[in-house]
Amino acid sequence: MKEQVVCKTTELEPGEMKAAHFGKQDVLICRTLDGEFYAFLNQCTHQGAPLDKGMICGATTEDSTPGDYHYCRKGEIIRCPWHGREFDIKDEGRMLANPNKRLASFKVRVENEDVIVYK
Ligand code: FES
Repeated sequence: MKEQVVCKTTELEPGEMKAAHFGKQDVLICRTLDGEFYAFLNQCTHQGAPLDKGMICGATTEDSTPGDYHYCRKGEIIRCPWHGREFDIKDEGRMLANPNKRLASFKVRVENEDVIVYK
C-alpha cells in the first residue's frame, strides 16, 4: 500500500482546502466543517482546472430563484474555479449536476497531527 503524509491537521481549518502532492499526483485535501479530511485528484473532470483555486461552499436549495439563492450543506461542496461545476465532498466527489461523474478520490486517515493519504 502506498501512503504519504500530505500535511498537518493544523494547516487546514474546517471549511478549507489546499493543494498537496501524493507521489507525482496533484491532490486536493479538503476539511469539512465537522473536521473530517478528504482527498481528491486536484483536477476538474470537465477541462482539468486546478480545484484548489476554486472554493468550498454549499449547494443551492430547490427553492432558490435567480438572485435569491438559499444554501444547504455548507462546507461540503467544491466549486470549480473555471466554469462552476460543483462536487460533493462527502459523496465521493460526485458532480451535483451529473452524479455519474465524480472526482478521483483517495483514502485519508489522521494519525496524531498527520494527514495521511493512501490507496
Ligand atoms: S474545468 Fe471545471 S467546470 Fe470546467
